[in-house]
Amino acid sequence: MSMPAQTPGRSCPLDYRYGAHALAAPASLVADSLWVAGGLYGNPFALRRLEELFSAERGKATLMFNGDFHWFDVEAEAYAAIETGVARHTATLGNVEAEIARPRAGAGCGCAYPDWVDDGTVERSNRIMERLKAAAAAVPGAAGRLGTLPMFRVAEVGGERVAIVHGDADSLAGWGFSQEALATHAGRESARAAFAAAQVRVFASSHTCLPVLQSFGETGIVANNGAAGMPNFAGTEFGLATRISVRPAPDALYRERIGPLHVEAIPIRYDAAAWRAAFLDLWPEGSDAHASYFERLVRGPRYALPEARRAA
Ligand SMILES: [Fe+2]
Repeated sequence: MSMPAQTPGRSCPLDYRYGAHALAAPASLVADSLWVAGGLYGNPFALRRLEELFSAERGKATLMFNGDFHWFDVEAEAYAAIETGVARHTATLGNVEAEIARPRAGAGCGCAYPDWVDDGTVERSNRIMERLKAAAAAVPGAAGRLGTLPMFRVAEVGGERVAIVHGDADSLAGWGFSQEALATHAGRESARAAFAAAQVRVFASSHTCLPVLQSFGETGIVANNGAAGMPNFAGTEFGLATRISVRPAPDALYRERIGPLHVEAIPIRYDAAAWRAAFLDLWPEGSDAHASYFERLVRGPRYALPEARRAA
Protein backbone atom coordinates (compact mmCIF):
# COMPACT_ATOMS: atom_id res chain seq x y z
CA MET A 1 0.00 0.00 0.00
CA SER A 2 1.43 3.36 -0.94
CA MET A 3 1.03 6.64 0.88
CA PRO A 4 -1.19 9.21 -0.81
CA ALA A 5 0.86 11.65 -2.87
CA GLN A 6 1.24 15.06 -1.28
CA THR A 7 1.15 18.25 -3.29
CA PRO A 8 4.66 19.68 -3.73
CA GLY A 9 4.92 23.08 -2.07
CA ARG A 10 2.04 22.41 0.33
CA SER A 11 3.49 19.84 2.67
CA CYS A 12 6.10 20.20 5.35
CA PRO A 13 8.81 17.55 4.79
CA LEU A 14 9.35 15.37 7.87
CA ASP A 15 13.04 16.23 8.04
CA TYR A 16 12.12 19.91 8.52
CA ARG A 17 10.83 19.22 12.02
CA TYR A 18 13.04 19.71 15.05
CA GLY A 19 10.58 20.69 17.80
CA ALA A 20 10.93 23.61 20.20
CA HIS A 21 12.71 21.50 22.85
CA ALA A 22 15.66 21.08 20.46
CA LEU A 23 16.22 24.83 20.79
CA ALA A 24 16.87 24.49 24.53
CA ALA A 25 20.50 23.77 23.63
CA PRO A 26 23.55 25.76 24.72
CA ALA A 27 24.19 28.95 22.77
CA SER A 28 26.70 28.51 19.97
CA LEU A 29 27.60 32.17 19.63
CA VAL A 30 27.82 35.25 21.84
CA ALA A 31 27.30 38.80 20.61
CA ASP A 32 26.46 42.34 21.74
CA SER A 33 24.60 42.89 18.49
CA LEU A 34 23.01 40.25 16.28
CA TRP A 35 21.56 41.07 12.87
CA VAL A 36 19.17 38.52 11.41
CA ALA A 37 18.37 38.88 7.72
CA GLY A 38 15.91 36.30 6.43
CA GLY A 39 14.54 36.32 2.90
CA LEU A 40 17.31 37.99 0.95
CA TYR A 41 15.79 36.13 -2.04
CA GLY A 42 18.85 36.55 -4.25
CA ASN A 43 18.89 40.37 -4.14
CA PRO A 44 22.58 41.40 -4.42
CA PHE A 45 21.78 45.09 -3.83
CA ALA A 46 20.15 44.29 -0.50
CA LEU A 47 23.19 42.18 0.38
CA ARG A 48 25.49 45.13 -0.31
CA ARG A 49 23.36 47.55 1.72
CA LEU A 50 23.13 45.10 4.62
CA GLU A 51 26.90 44.73 4.72
CA GLU A 52 27.32 48.53 4.67
CA LEU A 53 24.94 48.98 7.59
CA PHE A 54 26.37 46.06 9.52
CA SER A 55 29.94 47.32 9.10
CA ALA A 56 29.06 50.34 11.28
CA GLU A 57 28.45 48.07 14.31
CA ARG A 58 30.81 48.42 17.25
CA GLY A 59 31.53 45.67 19.76
CA LYS A 60 31.02 41.97 19.12
CA ALA A 61 28.58 41.69 16.23
CA THR A 62 27.23 38.89 14.02
CA LEU A 63 25.26 39.09 10.79
CA MET A 64 23.19 35.98 10.24
CA PHE A 65 21.26 35.00 7.12
CA ASN A 66 18.51 32.76 8.48
CA GLY A 67 17.50 31.18 5.22
CA ASP A 68 15.96 31.87 1.83
CA PHE A 69 18.97 33.94 0.82
CA HIS A 70 18.67 32.31 -2.61
CA TRP A 71 15.51 32.45 -4.72
CA PHE A 72 15.45 34.80 -7.73
CA ASP A 73 19.16 34.16 -8.51
CA VAL A 74 18.51 31.40 -11.01
CA GLU A 75 21.62 31.89 -13.17
CA ALA A 76 25.02 30.59 -12.12
CA GLU A 77 26.74 34.00 -11.90
CA ALA A 78 23.93 35.58 -9.87
CA TYR A 79 23.76 32.50 -7.65
CA ALA A 80 27.51 32.49 -7.02
CA ALA A 81 27.48 36.20 -6.05
CA ILE A 82 24.87 35.57 -3.35
CA GLU A 83 26.59 32.42 -2.16
CA THR A 84 29.96 34.20 -1.83
CA GLY A 85 28.44 37.16 0.01
CA VAL A 86 26.50 35.05 2.49
CA ALA A 87 29.56 32.86 3.13
CA ARG A 88 31.35 35.93 4.56
CA HIS A 89 28.88 35.81 7.48
CA THR A 90 26.84 33.25 9.43
CA ALA A 91 23.96 31.36 7.86
CA THR A 92 21.23 28.90 8.68
CA LEU A 93 19.04 26.95 6.28
CA GLY A 94 15.77 28.10 4.78
CA ASN A 95 13.45 25.76 2.97
CA VAL A 96 14.92 27.12 -0.27
CA GLU A 97 18.46 26.07 0.69
CA ALA A 98 17.24 22.75 2.15
CA GLU A 99 15.63 21.90 -1.19
CA ILE A 100 18.72 23.01 -3.19
CA ALA A 101 20.84 20.73 -1.00
CA ARG A 102 18.42 17.81 -1.36
CA PRO A 103 19.82 15.44 -3.99
CA ARG A 104 16.45 14.26 -5.31
CA ALA A 105 13.08 15.81 -6.01
CA GLY A 106 11.34 16.46 -2.74
CA ALA A 107 8.89 18.99 -1.44
CA GLY A 108 8.83 21.35 -4.41
CA CYS A 109 9.82 24.70 -2.98
CA GLY A 110 9.47 23.30 0.56
CA CYS A 111 7.39 26.33 1.45
CA ALA A 112 4.62 24.38 3.25
CA TYR A 113 2.24 27.06 2.01
CA PRO A 114 -0.94 27.42 4.09
CA ASP A 115 -4.45 27.47 2.63
CA TRP A 116 -4.54 31.24 2.19
CA VAL A 117 -1.85 31.01 -0.54
CA ASP A 118 -3.40 30.14 -3.92
CA ASP A 119 -2.48 27.12 -6.08
CA GLY A 120 -1.02 29.23 -8.88
CA THR A 121 1.53 30.76 -6.51
CA VAL A 122 2.47 27.31 -5.20
CA GLU A 123 2.96 25.88 -8.72
CA ARG A 124 5.05 28.87 -9.80
CA SER A 125 7.22 28.52 -6.69
CA ASN A 126 7.85 24.87 -7.47
CA ARG A 127 9.01 25.82 -10.99
CA ILE A 128 11.26 28.62 -9.65
CA MET A 129 12.81 25.99 -7.37
CA GLU A 130 13.61 23.73 -10.32
CA ARG A 131 15.46 26.55 -12.12
CA LEU A 132 17.29 27.50 -8.94
CA LYS A 133 18.47 23.91 -8.44
CA ALA A 134 19.85 23.91 -11.97
CA ALA A 135 21.74 27.19 -11.31
CA ALA A 136 23.18 25.79 -8.06
CA ALA A 137 24.29 22.64 -9.85
CA ALA A 138 26.36 24.82 -12.22
CA VAL A 139 28.34 26.30 -9.30
CA PRO A 140 30.92 23.77 -8.04
CA GLY A 141 30.50 22.87 -4.36
CA ALA A 142 27.54 25.19 -3.88
CA ALA A 143 24.80 22.70 -3.03
CA GLY A 144 27.18 20.72 -0.79
CA ARG A 145 28.01 23.77 1.30
CA LEU A 146 24.33 24.44 1.94
CA GLY A 147 23.91 20.86 3.12
CA THR A 148 26.24 21.60 6.05
CA LEU A 149 24.19 24.54 7.40
CA PRO A 150 22.11 24.05 10.55
CA MET A 151 18.31 24.55 10.62
CA PHE A 152 18.55 26.88 13.65
CA ARG A 153 21.07 28.54 15.94
CA VAL A 154 20.93 29.67 19.55
CA ALA A 155 22.81 32.84 20.41
CA GLU A 156 23.49 34.69 23.63
CA VAL A 157 23.02 38.45 23.24
CA GLY A 158 23.52 40.67 26.29
CA GLY A 159 23.27 37.55 28.46
CA GLU A 160 19.85 36.59 27.02
CA ARG A 161 19.14 33.49 24.94
CA VAL A 162 17.94 34.10 21.40
CA ALA A 163 16.76 31.38 19.00
CA ILE A 164 17.27 32.04 15.31
CA VAL A 165 14.96 29.92 13.18
CA HIS A 166 13.71 30.13 9.61
CA GLY A 167 10.05 29.16 10.09
CA ASP A 168 8.88 28.74 13.67
CA ALA A 169 9.84 27.08 16.95
CA ASP A 170 9.02 23.61 15.65
CA SER A 171 9.83 23.47 11.97
CA LEU A 172 12.00 24.96 9.24
CA ALA A 173 8.95 25.86 7.17
CA GLY A 174 6.43 26.39 10.00
CA TRP A 175 4.01 29.33 9.81
CA GLY A 176 3.53 29.70 13.59
CA PHE A 177 5.40 33.03 13.60
CA SER A 178 3.49 34.48 10.64
CA GLN A 179 1.64 37.74 11.20
CA GLU A 180 -1.54 35.82 10.37
CA ALA A 181 -0.99 33.17 13.09
CA LEU A 182 0.12 35.74 15.68
CA ALA A 183 -3.06 37.72 15.03
CA THR A 184 -5.06 34.88 16.61
CA HIS A 185 -5.38 34.02 20.30
CA ALA A 186 -4.48 30.39 19.62
CA GLY A 187 -1.41 31.46 17.65
CA ARG A 188 -0.19 33.72 20.45
CA GLU A 189 -0.79 31.00 23.05
CA SER A 190 1.23 28.51 21.06
CA ALA A 191 4.06 31.02 20.60
CA ARG A 192 3.99 31.75 24.35
CA ALA A 193 4.43 28.04 25.08
CA ALA A 194 7.41 27.93 22.72
CA PHE A 195 9.42 30.40 24.86
CA ALA A 196 9.25 27.97 27.78
CA ALA A 197 10.09 24.91 25.67
CA ALA A 198 13.06 26.59 23.97
CA GLN A 199 14.12 28.54 27.08
CA VAL A 200 14.72 31.73 25.10
CA ARG A 201 13.66 35.35 25.45
CA VAL A 202 13.63 36.12 21.72
CA PHE A 203 12.74 34.19 18.58
CA ALA A 204 14.07 35.66 15.34
CA SER A 205 12.29 34.19 12.33
CA SER A 206 11.47 34.87 8.68
CA HIS A 207 9.92 32.63 5.94
CA THR A 208 6.33 33.92 5.98
CA CYS A 209 7.17 36.99 3.86
CA LEU A 210 5.50 39.65 6.04
CA PRO A 211 7.16 41.20 9.10
CA VAL A 212 5.76 41.14 12.62
CA LEU A 213 7.29 42.18 15.93
CA GLN A 214 5.15 40.61 18.63
CA SER A 215 5.87 41.34 22.28
CA PHE A 216 4.81 38.91 24.99
CA GLY A 217 5.75 41.25 27.81
CA GLU A 218 8.44 39.84 30.09
CA THR A 219 8.02 36.39 28.52
CA GLY A 220 9.60 37.22 25.19
CA ILE A 221 9.49 38.72 21.73
CA VAL A 222 8.93 37.15 18.32
CA ALA A 223 10.75 39.16 15.64
CA ASN A 224 9.90 38.11 12.09
CA ASN A 225 11.79 40.34 9.64
CA GLY A 226 9.59 39.55 6.65
CA ALA A 227 12.05 39.90 3.77
CA ALA A 228 15.48 41.52 3.61
CA GLY A 229 15.42 41.54 -0.19
CA MET A 230 11.84 42.63 -0.96
CA PRO A 231 9.56 45.46 0.16
CA ASN A 232 7.45 44.64 3.23
CA PHE A 233 4.93 47.49 3.33
CA ALA A 234 2.58 49.04 0.78
CA GLY A 235 4.15 51.91 -1.11
CA THR A 236 7.72 51.18 0.05
CA GLU A 237 10.81 49.79 -1.68
CA PHE A 238 13.04 48.65 1.19
CA GLY A 239 13.76 45.32 2.84
CA LEU A 240 13.94 44.68 6.58
CA ALA A 241 16.38 43.00 8.93
CA THR A 242 16.00 42.27 12.63
CA ARG A 243 18.62 43.73 14.92
CA ILE A 244 18.93 42.44 18.50
CA SER A 245 21.38 44.41 20.58
CA VAL A 246 22.30 45.82 23.95
CA ARG A 247 22.37 49.26 22.25
CA PRO A 248 19.58 50.86 20.22
CA ALA A 249 20.19 51.72 16.56
CA PRO A 250 19.55 55.31 15.38
CA ASP A 251 17.53 54.24 12.33
CA ALA A 252 15.16 51.51 13.57
CA LEU A 253 11.64 51.69 12.13
CA TYR A 254 10.18 50.23 15.29
CA ARG A 255 11.41 48.28 18.30
CA GLU A 256 10.40 46.41 21.43
CA ARG A 257 12.50 46.00 24.56
CA ILE A 258 13.04 42.99 26.77
CA GLY A 259 15.50 42.93 29.66
CA PRO A 260 18.71 44.53 28.38
CA LEU A 261 17.80 43.98 24.70
CA HIS A 262 16.51 46.25 21.97
CA VAL A 263 14.77 44.17 19.29
CA GLU A 264 14.43 46.31 16.19
CA ALA A 265 13.31 46.38 12.57
CA ILE A 266 16.03 48.02 10.46
CA PRO A 267 15.17 49.25 6.94
CA ILE A 268 17.46 47.91 4.19
CA ARG A 269 17.27 50.72 1.63
CA TYR A 270 18.91 49.00 -1.33
CA ASP A 271 19.13 50.45 -4.85
CA ALA A 272 15.56 49.59 -5.86
CA ALA A 273 15.90 50.70 -9.51
CA ALA A 274 19.00 48.56 -10.02
CA TRP A 275 17.32 45.58 -8.38
CA ARG A 276 14.22 46.00 -10.54
CA ALA A 277 16.38 45.97 -13.69
CA ALA A 278 18.38 42.93 -12.55
CA PHE A 279 15.16 41.11 -11.61
CA LEU A 280 13.64 41.80 -15.03
CA ASP A 281 16.77 40.41 -16.74
CA LEU A 282 16.26 37.12 -14.91
CA TRP A 283 12.46 37.16 -14.77
CA PRO A 284 10.86 39.08 -17.67
CA GLU A 285 7.15 39.64 -18.02
CA GLY A 286 5.34 36.32 -18.42
CA SER A 287 7.83 34.40 -16.23
CA ASP A 288 6.87 32.62 -13.01
CA ALA A 289 8.65 34.97 -10.60
CA HIS A 290 7.36 38.02 -12.47
CA ALA A 291 3.79 36.78 -12.06
CA SER A 292 4.23 36.07 -8.35
CA TYR A 293 6.50 38.90 -7.19
CA PHE A 294 6.92 41.85 -9.56
CA GLU A 295 3.89 43.70 -8.22
CA ARG A 296 5.31 43.41 -4.71
CA LEU A 297 8.75 44.51 -5.87
CA VAL A 298 7.45 47.80 -7.22
CA ARG A 299 4.48 48.51 -4.98
CA GLY A 300 5.03 46.50 -1.82
CA PRO A 301 2.55 44.01 -0.31
CA ARG A 302 -0.88 44.98 1.00
CA TYR A 303 0.38 45.43 4.53
CA ALA A 304 1.10 48.58 6.52
CA LEU A 305 3.82 49.36 9.00
CA PRO A 306 1.51 49.85 12.03
CA GLU A 307 0.21 46.29 11.48
CA ALA A 308 3.67 44.83 12.06
CA ARG A 309 4.28 46.20 15.52
CA ARG A 310 2.29 44.33 18.15
CA ALA A 311 2.56 45.36 21.77
CA ALA A 312 1.99 42.76 24.50
FE1 LIG B 1 11.10 30.16 3.57
